[in-house]
Amino acid sequence: MQITALRDDVLRIRASRTDVLPEDASWAVLPEARRASVAVQQESSARTVRFRTSKLEVRVDRATGLITLMDAEGHVLQQDAEPMQFEGKRFCAAETMPLDEHYFGLGDKTGAFDHREEAFRMWNTDAYAWQESTDPLYKSIPFYLTYRAGVSLGVLMDNTWPSSFDFGKTLENTMQYCVDGGAADVYVLYGPTAKQVLKSYAWLTGPTPLPPLWTLGFQQSRYSYMTEARVLEVAERLRKDRIPSDAIYLDIDYQNKNRPFTINTQAFPDIPGMVKTLHEQKFHVVAITDLHIAYLPGQDYAPFNSGMAGDDFVKNPDGSVYVGKVWPGPSVFPDFTKRSARVWWSTLYKGFTEMGIDGFWNDMNEPSVFDELKTMPCSTVHQLDEPGFAERTATHCEIHNVYGMENSRATFEGQLALRPDMRPFVLTRATYAGGQRYAATWTGDNSATWNHLRLTTSMLKNLGLSGFALAGADVGGYAGTPTPELLTKWIEIGAFQPIDRDHAEKGTGDHEVWANGLAQEDIRRRFIETRYRLLPYLYTITEEDTHTGLPLLRPLFLEFPDAASDHHPLDVDVNTSGEFMVGPDLLVAAPAFEDKADDYDATLPSRGWYDFWTGKEVAEDKEQLQTGGMLPGIGAGLALPTVRVHRELATLPVFVRPGAIIPMEPLVQSTEERPKGPLTLRVFAGADCGGHLYQDDGRSFAYKQGAFLRMSFTCEATADHRRVSVRVGKHEGTYPAWWKELAVQVNGLNGKASVVTVNGKIAAHVDDGHSVTIETLDAGDGMDIVVRSTGDGQ
Ligand code: GLC
Repeated sequence: MQITALRDDVLRIRASRTDVLPEDASWAVLPEARRASVAVQQESSARTVRFRTSKLEVRVDRATGLITLMDAEGHVLQQDAEPMQFEGKRFCAAETMPLDEHYFGLGDKTGAFDHREEAFRMWNTDAYAWQESTDPLYKSIPFYLTYRAGVSLGVLMDNTWPSSFDFGKTLENTMQYCVDGGAADVYVLYGPTAKQVLKSYAWLTGPTPLPPLWTLGFQQSRYSYMTEARVLEVAERLRKDRIPSDAIYLDIDYQNKNRPFTINTQAFPDIPGMVKTLHEQKFHVVAITDLHIAYLPGQDYAPFNSGMAGDDFVKNPDGSVYVGKVWPGPSVFPDFTKRSARVWWSTLYKGFTEMGIDGFWNDMNEPSVFDELKTMPCSTVHQLDEPGFAERTATHCEIHNVYGMENSRATFEGQLALRPDMRPFVLTRATYAGGQRYAATWTGDNSATWNHLRLTTSMLKNLGLSGFALAGADVGGYAGTPTPELLTKWIEIGAFQPIDRDHAEKGTGDHEVWANGLAQEDIRRRFIETRYRLLPYLYTITEEDTHTGLPLLRPLFLEFPDAASDHHPLDVDVNTSGEFMVGPDLLVAAPAFEDKADDYDATLPSRGWYDFWTGKEVAEDKEQLQTGGMLPGIGAGLALPTVRVHRELATLPVFVRPGAIIPMEPLVQSTEERPKGPLTLRVFAGADCGGHLYQDDGRSFAYKQGAFLRMSFTCEATADHRRVSVRVGKHEGTYPAWWKELAVQVNGLNGKASVVTVNGKIAAHVDDGHSVTIETLDAGDGMDIVVRSTGDGQ
């Protein structure tokens, strides 16, 4: 066994059944991180091998090999329940599970948000119309985050072989991990905060690159818009109905007989012309490019012919090319673990890139095969050509779980090579730990049911805790036709999720925003408009994620670990399970069960919150302080404010943290449109008041040379809220602002505004009873605004 302190708070544990350690390589972990180390203080004795860093202490019992991990004060953070067991190629590890510890992450796993008492397998699977109990799903992200009374650890089991995680389901209070082969290579990341764990995970596996701004817009898809005319018709309708939107997807039917990198020229006679028209209408086009290449020997199908010539496909054990059936019929499968095959793959995009197609969708890359196994047999053979790994062959069993990630990597790197000045956008269905470096993702083929809308929240929270900040679910549900009410509610909630893509299966009823008539469309449009007004905030938190690893959609406990008096994560309570944070400041309080009609109590993590829609301070239901924590023995004494919510189809409760400053922009119909009017700062007076803004051109890498704009804002309120002062910081960076004017809206002033000053001079204002707005402020560098109410003695 070898334990290395990569940093004072990050350990790597490698173990082997022989005296030779396994290959030092990884698909997930960056080479710089893997090779890092810090000096440790050794304190070994006859019974134990021990060492310390400034943050951790590690003890290994010489007789049993059991590892105990402690913080600097000697509190046990993790304890092996059993020594690692090796049985042939297979091995297992077991950890003790303290009663009050919770387990999150593991990618797209469904079921309850907390994985405690659940068990999962890692085997990327095309799980069409999956349900709440379906496992495995599309992705294998063998990373979990523990949370115990405010203290978190992250654990990455860096192994691509089929594996299982059992969080006390089989053996009470024991986490068991077993894997069919490969290396025992474990990374342990110490918080103590969950935020720090996520930051370290981004250090270890790489951050999410800054995506193009348009990917935060509303995206419209369907399997399939069957003709060019239909695509243009949908685009026109979006513009005519004034549904802000940024992307239209081409699903497999734009291709000739479902053959990747071809075009059905009957249905799509002029894709370059179509793309041009869509660009003029300020849309972006995303085309699906599945990985299976049609098996068409002796025909004029370049992807097959060039791939064969370059020896780029996965083989059978006898050396022949493996053929399996997918959408195009018999197909062959690129060997994405081989560098030369990835380079060849990227050349296939040349034509589409030249046509101006903006983004690419890598689907079916578990890989899906239409036979009993649902994928390639384990015995098929891949060639490895990857720094760190020995040049060798590997069975599909070893590669399966990382295959989809390497597909998205080839696409991403290919885009960078073809359009070096543009940020790529790749959407992938299957992936592995670290896959956030290459692609955004979605939760696959969900269903048009209320239950699936509910599941979306915990799946996106767990994906966010697994490195995938940019994730979404098919809005409206893929399989089946949503009822008008379900589609409306889904569009409302989807507007607050990182990737907002409306998508539907062939044969289902219309899922577009206008389906079901004007009344529904009006409600739906309002929410998408809100998303667009919030773009400055959404883009700022997206850029923040590239440094911090903090997802856009967050569980409450990530922001408010100490909200409950016993420090349990609020999100595990049944009555808060529908709630989620968007960045640090917005709380969307969807109900736990969407299909019920009765009113419900939304729980807030602290006092003094605001209603996002009205800017009014929330009238907390002080009579109804609840005892949260529905798990037995947990949550005793919890007293958090609740808000009684009356359910209506047209409303979704969204609350703002006291102390937030949220930048918003005038409504645009596309991110390609320059907003007209002022940048608005919505100030919500409260403790630790502040906010940020990040802007750039939204598409290129010029920001790396300083072409960005950053601003910080702070505010201070007197204890009685009769005076609120706001400081607008200077512009940093060279990117010019689109606004000439600023509007500052102050919420939370106690009493009617009497005097407002800007840089010491009296300024005009409008007071609508709960917010004071100072309009048309000159957007110069740095500004002090003071708002006083009648009762302010000073
Ligand atoms: C898969 C995808 C789905 C897509 C369909 C056709 O089922 O998950 O989103 O529409 O294939 O390409």
